Parts: sequence; C-alpha cells; structure tokens
Amino acid sequence: MSEVTILKIGGSVLTDKSKEGKLNRKEIARIAKEIASGDVRRLILIHGAGSFGHPIAKKFGLDIPGRQNYTGVTLTHEMVKDLNRAFVKELIENGIAAMPVHPMSCAISSKGRLNKMMTSQIELMIDNGVVPVIHGDVVMDLDWGVSILSGDQIVLHLAQRLNAKRVGVGTDVDGIMDDDGKVITSITPKTFSNIKPLLTTSKNIDVTGGMSGKVNELVKLAEGSIPSYVFNASKKGNVAAFLEDNVDFGTVIRSD
Ligand SMILES: Nc1ncnc2c1ncn2[C@@H]1O[C@H](COP(=O)(O)OP(=O)(O)OP(=O)(O)O)[C@@H](O)[C@H]1O
Ligand SMILES: [Mg+2]
Repeated sequence: MSEVTILKIGGSVLTDKSKEGKLNRKEIARIAKEIASGDVRRLILIHGAGSFGHPIAKKFGLDIPGRQNYTGVTLTHEMVKDLNRAFVKELIENGIAAMPVHPMSCAISSKGRLNKMMTSQIELMIDNGVVPVIHGDVVMDLDWGVSILSGDQIVLHLAQRLNAKRVGVGTDVDGIMDDDGKVITSITPKTFSNIKPLLTTSKNIDVTGGMSGKVNELVKLAEGSIPSYVFNASKKGNVAAFLEDNVDFGTVIRSD
C-alpha cells in the first residue's frame, strides 16, 4: 500500500474569518487549482471551519463543555457543510474526484477529544482514487452531549491511524512565529515548552485555540514520529510545493 498524504487547509484561508459566513472564493479557486496540478493519489484533504463555524459555534456557546444547544449544533453543522460543499464543488470542477466526509455522521468524542471515527470509508475512497474532503465539525460527545471537533484534531487522528507519510497544515500566516514575528523553522517536543508561551489563539473569533490548539495536536503527532509542516497556504504556490514534496518554508514539527 503506498503512503497517505494529509493536507489541511485552514478555514482562515478558505473564508474571510473576520466576516461570518463569507467565502474567499478566489482562494478556494486558486487552492483547488494548485491541488489539481499536484499528485492527488492517496491524498486526504481536511479543512477548518473559518467563519462558517467559529462565530456560530461561539454564538450558541458550543465551546462551553456541556452546553447542549442542539439546535445550535445542527445550524453550525449545516454551515460548515456549506463551506465543505463550496470547496468540494471547486475541486470537482478542477477534475479531482473529491468526496465529502462529515465527522458528525462518523465520529464520537469524549470530553472534547476524538474518541472514535469510522475510517474504513475514507480508506476505501483513497484505495479507489477518490480524495476525501473532511472538515472541522460538531460531534456527539459521550460526556458533554456534544463538542467541537477541530480540523487540527482530525489531522492528528487520521495521520496516526493511517500512518501518514506526509502531513501539511496550511494556514494564513508564514508558520509559527516568535516574539519578533520571525518564523521558527523547527519545533520538537523538547523545544515546545519554550515556544508554548508564544502561541495564542486567532485574531478573529475562534473556538479551537488558533495556533495554540494546532501546535498542541501537531506536537502529539511528532511524539509518534510523524512530522508535519505548518505553512502559509494563502501564498501562491505553497500548496503545490507541499504536494511536490518541495517544502523549504514554514515550520516543521518533528520528533527531534
Ligand atoms: N506564535 C504564533 N505564530 C503564528 N500565528 C499565531 C501565533 N500565535 C497566534 N497565532 C494566530 O493563529 C492564527 C492561525 O490560527 P487559526 O485557527 O486562525 O487558523 P486556521 O487553523 O488556519 O483556521 P481554522 O481554525 O478556521 O481552520 C494566525 O492567523 C495568528 O493570528
Ligand atoms: Mg484553527
């Protein structure tokens, strides 16, 4: 079995995170083109919720453990599906056999952490040359009733489960930055404690911890010896370069 590549595109790139429910249509089109120009065999795409998820989840208090506003849950899920639909449509228009996968229908969390996710359909998709497109979502939770599942957590889970060879996390900044705004080229579980204080959430409404939440997941991945790259997917050419295995930008998070 050839190896799996996981690429997450941040909701910060696909949407205007400062305006609720606003697509970045140009960016969606450009990124779909870059993906179509690359090697899409055994590729799993994941995307974040951006302004189709964070503001509405916040409005219904879904980031508060145990807040069981199920109408809000469904409305949030429907909205992130709208973003998923727009991205999948653009991928299909660029000739990619993309297929949506909605975590609400195939995953369960426990205290906000992904507990179970059916992946046999995802494996069958990649075995058959299909590119699954999975997204950050709201899912049923064994302890809290419902909780938010970030795209970053899905990256960790699937990369571990499918033993991914390459993991890329595209976002709206050049990588993980230090106090002076300089990109930190490499982070390991050992150096993470020094870097932790530099990581905050997003400048916009955010319910999954922004850069801090992301790096927490990716350090866990690195502990299991799967490296990942955080890079700027808003910069033309970076997504294509990642798919070509030609990344000399951003931050790599690795075991040592
Ligand atoms: N040290 C840091 N280096 C870089 N970015 C940081 C740092 N600390 C906080 N951030 C913020 O993290 C943001 C990226 O996280 P954010 O969750 O907004 O994006 P995303 O995960 O791509 O989007 P989504 O959550 O919708 O998928 C950056 O835009 C920046 O404002
Ligand atoms: Mg995020």
